[in-house]
Amino acid sequence: MKNQKLSFHKWMQSIGINFMIITILVMACKKKEIETPFPNNTSYQLFTTPLKRPATVSGTSASFTASAASAEVVPGSNTSVLAYNNSVPGPTISINFGQTLNINFLNSLSEGTNMHWHGLDVPANQDGFPTSIIGSGANFNFSFPVNNRAGAYWYHPHPEGATASQAYKGMAGFFIVRDAEESSLNLPSGDYEVPIAIQDKRLDGNNQLIYNPTSNDIMTGWLGDKIVVNGVYAPYLGVATRFYRFRVLNGSNARIYNLALSNGADFYVIGSDGGLLAAPVSVQSLMLSPGERADILINFGSYSVGTEIYLQSNSFTSMSQGNEFKIMKFKVDKNEVETFSLPSSLSVINTLSPASADTIRSFILKADPMGSMPGMSGMHTINDKIFDAARVDEMVKAGATEVWEIENTSDEPHPMHIHGVQFLVLQRTGGRNSLIATENGWKDTALLMPGEKIKIIMKFSSNPGKFVFHCHNLEHEEDGMMLVFEIM
Ligand code: C2O
Ligand code: CU
Ligand code: CU
Repeated sequence: MKNQKLSFHKWMQSIGINFMIITILVMACKKKEIETPFPNNTSYQLFTTPLKRPATVSGTSASFTASAASAEVVPGSNTSVLAYNNSVPGPTISINFGQTLNINFLNSLSEGTNMHWHGLDVPANQDGFPTSIIGSGANFNFSFPVNNRAGAYWYHPHPEGATASQAYKGMAGFFIVRDAEESSLNLPSGDYEVPIAIQDKRLDGNNQLIYNPTSNDIMTGWLGDKIVVNGVYAPYLGVATRFYRFRVLNGSNARIYNLALSNGADFYVIGSDGGLLAAPVSVQSLMLSPGERADILINFGSYSVGTEIYLQSNSFTSMSQGNEFKIMKFKVDKNEVETFSLPSSLSVINTLSPASADTIRSFILKADPMGSMPGMSGMHTINDKIFDAARVDEMVKAGATEVWEIENTSDEPHPMHIHGVQFLVLQRTGGRNSLIATENGWKDTALLMPGEKIKIIMKFSSNPGKFVFHCHNLEHEEDGMMLVFEIM
């Protein structure tokens, strides 16, 4: 009897333990739902919708209106978004080096906004400083000369407290600069040059965007379970048997992609945030963090018609993300004669010597779940500070060459971005301990995985005024992981 009782007790205990295990498993699976694209919980058949290309507009005389709009994020249903000219992503601005941008901007949103030209060297009053707000119903004329070399830059809003939500809801687009050096290379163009903006979204049962970050989401950044390319969930691109040039933008709030082809084939990295590399670099995978761009060439020349290859994100080690998933599909659908041959050199990168630096600055990135401020903001800091628009954290001499050392002491990745300047990464120590292909060229955003420290060098512009530098995990940025520098 006693034994039976004991074993009954044991049995109860084991049920309890099993129940706990089941609960933990269920919780783990629930958590995975957000972390593992794709659960195909819609009636939409994945990778059956052609990739959309946003319309191209001339940057020398365009009108931009920001407003609420509707978009087919999931083909066949309407999602409420915020958009530039009713388009998600926004129109692709195309402009030549040396031309003057001219954009008449109207804010038809019900909230304040502004525009930031990510990667470009522009006057401070054009850069979208977080407190220079264009009010609801107001106009602004953006006008500045384009001083940056050919490259895929981009634009998005930057108002304090709403950068993350507005960009997430659809406000972002490409800003493509062309120049003579790049044209002389005859890189794949027209149909064969494809801008692709990769983002991740969370949708409710009616395919409406969800955006309500909890403090946990702020720690990791807002991660979606649906990967969209040029605004559409799981599209495909029909390709011919030849080289294609992809201008890839990670326009996600927090998700990092470890880009690869599903057949393991090599592809070529030819450019980075600030334009062409010195020479193509052949890779099998490439990490691309929020804000970064990669100019890549994929050669479909050796495949037979009917071949299907996915662009995917390979797994990588990180606390809150890093599972493998598919992004989009390439369907080889016609034979064509190749007219392009890969050049062995592309451009000249004029390096900057650390010995010539006027100033060396150090920055320590931290993440503290308790926050430094009441009300949970300030969990993420740079040199123990959070953003204050009225404070100038670093004073930079106009035209100065500076070395910045940035160290990530937190256990989360931080893609660090500096406004108004392109830098070279001299060195990465800790973590991956090396540079990646895109870091052979000019950068405005560089990823620091946990434990990593980078040393970068740059020559600031002579445009005086206040600019920001920040983590491009946009929830971290909203949380205060952003400081002010003033060029004087
Ligand atoms: Cu895309 Cu302040 O940045
Ligand atoms: Cu920027
Ligand atoms: Cu961060």
